[in-house]
Amino acid sequence: MFCKFVGLVLLVAGFCSTALAQTQAVDAEGHQWWQHAVFYEIYPRSFMDSNDDGIGDLKGIASKLDYLKSLGVDAIWITPCYPSPQVDFGYDVSDYENIDPMYGTLADFDRLQQEASKRGIRIIMDFVMNHTSDQHAWFLDSRSSRTAAKRDWYMWHDGKGSAPPNNWVSTFGGSAWTWDAKTGQYFYHYFYPQQPDLNWRNPAVHDAMFDVTRWWYKRGVAGFRLDAVDTLFEDPGLHDNPVLPGKDKFGDPNEENLYNAKLPEVHVVLRDLRKVADENNAVLIGETWTKDVSELKQYYGDHGDELQMPMDFMFAKVDRLSATEFRRQIAAVDSAGGWPVFVLSNHDIVRSSVRYGDGKNNRAIEKLMASLYLTLRGTPIMYYGEEIGMENNDPVRKEDVKDPIGRVGWPQEKGRDGERTPMQWDDSPNAGFTRGTPWLPVPLSYKTVNVASELKDPSSVLHAYRRLLALRHQNRALLDGDYVALNESDTNVLSYLRRYKNEAVLVVLNMSSQPQRVSFDLGPQGFAVQNASTLFTTMGGGSKVSLSHLSLQPFSVYVGAVSK
Ligand code: GLC
Ligand code: CA
Repeated sequence: MFCKFVGLVLLVAGFCSTALAQTQAVDAEGHQWWQHAVFYEIYPRSFMDSNDDGIGDLKGIASKLDYLKSLGVDAIWITPCYPSPQVDFGYDVSDYENIDPMYGTLADFDRLQQEASKRGIRIIMDFVMNHTSDQHAWFLDSRSSRTAAKRDWYMWHDGKGSAPPNNWVSTFGGSAWTWDAKTGQYFYHYFYPQQPDLNWRNPAVHDAMFDVTRWWYKRGVAGFRLDAVDTLFEDPGLHDNPVLPGKDKFGDPNEENLYNAKLPEVHVVLRDLRKVADENNAVLIGETWTKDVSELKQYYGDHGDELQMPMDFMFAKVDRLSATEFRRQIAAVDSAGGWPVFVLSNHDIVRSSVRYGDGKNNRAIEKLMASLYLTLRGTPIMYYGEEIGMENNDPVRKEDVKDPIGRVGWPQEKGRDGERTPMQWDDSPNAGFTRGTPWLPVPLSYKTVNVASELKDPSSVLHAYRRLLALRHQNRALLDGDYVALNESDTNVLSYLRRYKNEAVLVVLNMSSQPQRVSFDLGPQGFAVQNASTLFTTMGGGSKVSLSHLSLQPFSVYVGAVSK
């Protein structure tokens, strides 16, 4: 796909009014590379271990590039692999311009980059913007004295008597302020105390962090996933947040993050970051937790000049397999004006097969969910292991928990270990991930749920992914077509057209445990023909079906092409 794309590259120079020489790669119809790409999130600790220390690494990722290529992946997002004390498993960065020795070296990164690029796979890095590790040289300087050069790079404030400056609580439990006895002030951390928030109002912080992105662009990365963008800025007046009824899972009072999340200043930084991204033909993906589409809309920017790809987590938060709920959420994000970004799960969200599985038909449901998010208008970001139907492997005893939020919040909050377990490659010990002791245990299901076994089984979840991804890459309507909802009052079957000029693809998803019959009249959409030719289905049957009476087995999928 990458090579095909290069053939279509147009150079649009002098595009913006500042006459800043910009180079944008777009296809003949104005699509950017990331609109046609399939992204795949890799949690490096858990993907593939090359040196048997039980922890995945960059050489391990490199050894699986051919697998990713054959699956149909165009870009990999690697969650943080920078030097880090690993308090939050890499989201506490102590040096933004290096690789943690447990994952390899910069030379390994360069090799990975070259090998990926040979295969047309781009690399997206994780940019942890909101905070650093408390072991970062910047923070070590900052906390050394009140007059330190970098004191103002973080958020230091006096307390109120013997209490913290205000009532803000950390999303990981406890006050968001930690007392520093040496310098007699509190520092602010939205996450753990080992993750002090940077002071983005300080121009020196802004510049240093922007330089980090340039440094990686020079190394060849194709963009960033921006971590925790919602919380870059805080109210300088440090007003108390409104307290809401009840307590959170850590036992802290619930509060509305009125003064420490989603401040308007975030958008100024995003616009600036976007300019640098555009100079590098790069994409910015946002970890954007939004309560509704109007909030999501803001992240695209008023003039489409902020994030190209803010993730729609509202889609991942649809909490049951419901045609009505998914239809509503898809329509909402589709009308937001930007390019939708769909994720089913990630390293912070319970795996989708657990959320939607009924315990009896999980394989069918995994294929159903794949057929949903891989056929929508927008870019999917897969999570490693989703393509084989990996399930959570949650800890059952507190002493086994690795993720600190699981230790603090046990038993209400078991942490995120369950969705971060090693990739299941084959049925050898530890699922072929390591010959050492894996950092998190592999569930017994690996004996059948693994890449090697599923490659041999044409009816596997993995084969469904491979076929759908291949289809998505070559079918114009799936790549660029509009989203048109069909049969909108059907509460069991979600159906839509992806319509592109004279062609269209019909997607029919039975989200119920019962057989269903559906009938389509595509006349209003300008498609008079009553037959569809099958592109993908999880049911048996012929290559042509009648659209006036389509019978669907429980949780089954039908995808077919219609034409005028
Ligand atoms: C983001 C990451 C999460 C991490 C947090 C703090 O939410 O996805 O894993 O714990 O940021 O950096
Ligand atoms: Ca290793």
